[in-house]
Amino acid sequence: MNNSKPGQLGTGSDSDDSTDDMPWWQSSVVYQIYPRSFADSNGDGIGDLRGIIAHLDHLERLGVDIIWLSPIYASPHDDNGYDISDYRAIDPVFGTLADFDVLVAEIHRRGMTLLMDLVVNHTSDEHPWFVESASSRDNPKRDWYWWRPTRHGATAGEPGAEPTNWGSFFSGSAWEFDKDSGEYYLHLFSRKQPDLNWENPEVRDAVYEMMRWWLDRGVDGFRMDVINLISKDSTLPDGVCAPGQRYADGFPHYGYGPRIHEFLHEMHECVFAGRVGQFLTVGEMPGVTVGQARLFTDPARRELDMVFQFEHVGLDHGPSGKWDPRPLDVRELKASFARWQDGLAEVGWNSLYWNNHDQPRAVSRFGDDGPYWAESATMLATVLHLQRGTPYVYQGEELGMTNVPFRGISDFRDIESLNYFAEAVDQLGEEPEKVLRGIRHISRDNARTPVQWSDEPQAGFTAGSPWIGVNPNYPTINARSQHGRAGSIFEYYRALIALRHTEPVIARGAFEMLCPEHPVLVAFTRTLDDRELLVLANFGDASLEVGKLPGPILPNADVWRTALTVIDNYPAKEGVDNLILSPWQARVLTRQLN
Ligand code: NOJ
Repeated sequence: MNNSKPGQLGTGSDSDDSTDDMPWWQSSVVYQIYPRSFADSNGDGIGDLRGIIAHLDHLERLGVDIIWLSPIYASPHDDNGYDISDYRAIDPVFGTLADFDVLVAEIHRRGMTLLMDLVVNHTSDEHPWFVESASSRDNPKRDWYWWRPTRHGATAGEPGAEPTNWGSFFSGSAWEFDKDSGEYYLHLFSRKQPDLNWENPEVRDAVYEMMRWWLDRGVDGFRMDVINLISKDSTLPDGVCAPGQRYADGFPHYGYGPRIHEFLHEMHECVFAGRVGQFLTVGEMPGVTVGQARLFTDPARRELDMVFQFEHVGLDHGPSGKWDPRPLDVRELKASFARWQDGLAEVGWNSLYWNNHDQPRAVSRFGDDGPYWAESATMLATVLHLQRGTPYVYQGEELGMTNVPFRGISDFRDIESLNYFAEAVDQLGEEPEKVLRGIRHISRDNARTPVQWSDEPQAGFTAGSPWIGVNPNYPTINARSQHGRAGSIFEYYRALIALRHTEPVIARGAFEMLCPEHPVLVAFTRTLDDRELLVLANFGDASLEVGKLPGPILPNADVWRTALTVIDNYPAKEGVDNLILSPWQARVLTRQLN
């Protein structure tokens, strides 16, 4: 939330948008840790804080600047910690507050910063706030959540009696009937994740106070879970039901509600304004448009520093949604990248990512996890890291971790996948194998198997039995085999991350997408002052002679043919024509203008 560089104390004032004095996080790279699956120090099969501390050298070596820690708070783990029952306690499975303090100190000692996950659209139903709220209709905390009576004329608890027809993100209705108090409560995610009512100022005050408490403890900012859902249309109207669907899409009524900008600005004022230090706020915002993102991240409006948007990771969703995937059309991907680069060129900031704990592994999804595994993993990284924005690396991505050969439904742990399977098979009568095909491809569990540290049993993740099976490819894909090995995916990521730190054109340069219509070539330039970079990437198995493609693919092709190479995911060859790309090759070239 200010311009100071890591290690300096800032004034708490916001960016003045000058390129000479960029906020520190604009030339930074974030690394996401999903604690359950990162490293287990005590043999219980679940990753923990001591496990993270023991592996900080890996991150320091990689060169990342910011660590985003997925939730480690007390939780019944219905949604792996995104259901919080105490915002100020560490879940015993992960460790203690004393462990946490050591983690913060160790991260800071290495010159990195820590971003906490802030999950405040909802709590767990085991949070004392909800327990009180549910205890009676006249409890003072009743209004901290969304309670509504049975639909007029319907019988409580029967299908169709819910206050609205909205579906939950995790299948079924978004409402749960509470027999004891005779009303329904809203849960956009699982029934154990009731939505907080942000209309109530006491709720907002309690959240801001909790945020200040973590900042006082030394954290450097927050990644805000589905923060676009905190303002809802409080009249809660029904949504439109698509043909053949049992539940409606309520998003137009609970996403980006009327007070969203007001709440985020208020949060900024109550939590960050005037605070000394260097902070970062990232808003996870499914469905955010470029125009909205510009408003949320315009420094003058004092809301958020950057958004996490979903457009590019929705491009392979089929007509029936994410469980019905289709192949990626690279032209659509380029159009999306260009729209975001252009739309936030002057004002605003974006997060750049392929992977996180909610997405399958990009190398399997958009690359080739077979013969061109290393090439496609590093090509994807190059295309992402060379854009304007803040790149995110999700644990294991730097090793080229792949999707998992899940055998049957019993191999999965994720509530979203399990609920979807049960609904599709048990209620809608779909063919289990067909449903499983979609789940295998897109399930979040692909990202949640243990980090592959070595070729030792359980990939060196645990001395016990892991909470979810290790990907059987760990003997060949693991950190130990890649550290320090020239040509490894890890060393390539290391070089890419270092480039962002040393080449101002990567963090700050203007962006121009070339050849938007080509089906497999991604080509764009980055320009700053008299420096220009050309990024070329081949999203396919066949070689490409860029210089010979028909049409005006590349202005100044001859200049680039012999230009200097900045980074290349194929070994350098003497006298090679820069414009010939091998399968899944990525090459970045540079030239001086004038
Ligand atoms: C988004 C998180 O990234 C996801 O993992 C979680 O299930 C939902 N929000 C609900 O908190």
